[in-house]
Amino acid sequence: MTNLNIGMPEWHISLSKTLLDHADNIESRFFQVASVDACGYPQNRTMVFRGFNEENILAVCDIRSDKYDQWKNQAHAQICWYFNESREQFRLTCTVELITDLNHLDTKLAETEHPKSHMQTLRDKVWEGLSKASQAQFSWPAPLIPFDENAQTNNTSTLDDDKNTCELKPHKHFVLVCFSPSKIDYLNLRATPHIREITKRLQAGVWECTSVQP
Ligand SMILES: Cc1cc2nc3c(=O)[nH]c(=O)nc-3n(C[C@H](O)[C@H](O)[C@H](O)COP(=O)(O)O)c2cc1C
Repeated sequence: MTNLNIGMPEWHISLSKTLLDHADNIESRFFQVASVDACGYPQNRTMVFRGFNEENILAVCDIRSDKYDQWKNQAHAQICWYFNESREQFRLTCTVELITDLNHLDTKLAETEHPKSHMQTLRDKVWEGLSKASQAQFSWPAPLIPFDENAQTNNTSTLDDDKNTCELKPHKHFVLVCFSPSKIDYLNLRATPHIREITKRLQAGVWECTSVQP
């Protein structure tokens, strides 16, 4: 069975409800997300869900991380999000927009529907919502450089110690990552029989959902 959906898509309503139902479980806000590296190999990691922007999914990362370079070169990602209480899995095929303090020079999503100023404002807002401990990580030494025991205090520095940062202004290493889903593969293992639905974005605000065999 195929349904055409205009406006807020069913998968988004369903994901929002599942997040609400798991609100007591902090781990429900962690998802796995894959990128593709320069050699064509998949690279996967865990990220924290930082909210929605319309139907897009927000996360944050460091501009010095491998994932930033990978998405800068290939703006494609797949999120895999499993909720253990409801036994639901959402696999979201996405394009990736990277919002840095370089005024969108790094944006790869050509057909973005958001005015640039809106995304910069959103970056500021997400930064302000981070805990002090999360903000401080952006002034740690760069990821993957050899660990220096003597510089260990750098990894515990707080924003107050770091003259380059202030709470209100996002750190220069801070990147807002905006995942824009184009296909959602939904699996519900709790239902009998199991439910699997494939939703595809046909155009802005228009989605087609098909029930398929799990
Ligand atoms: C529970 C959990 C949450 C994480 N959340 C984030 C996150 O929101 N952003 C991020 O950049 N890394 C996050 N990480 C670290 C990444 O999984 C990863 O180890 C790190 O960012 C380096 O990834 P990369 O080499 O692919 O850039 C998290 C790790 C765990 C275990």
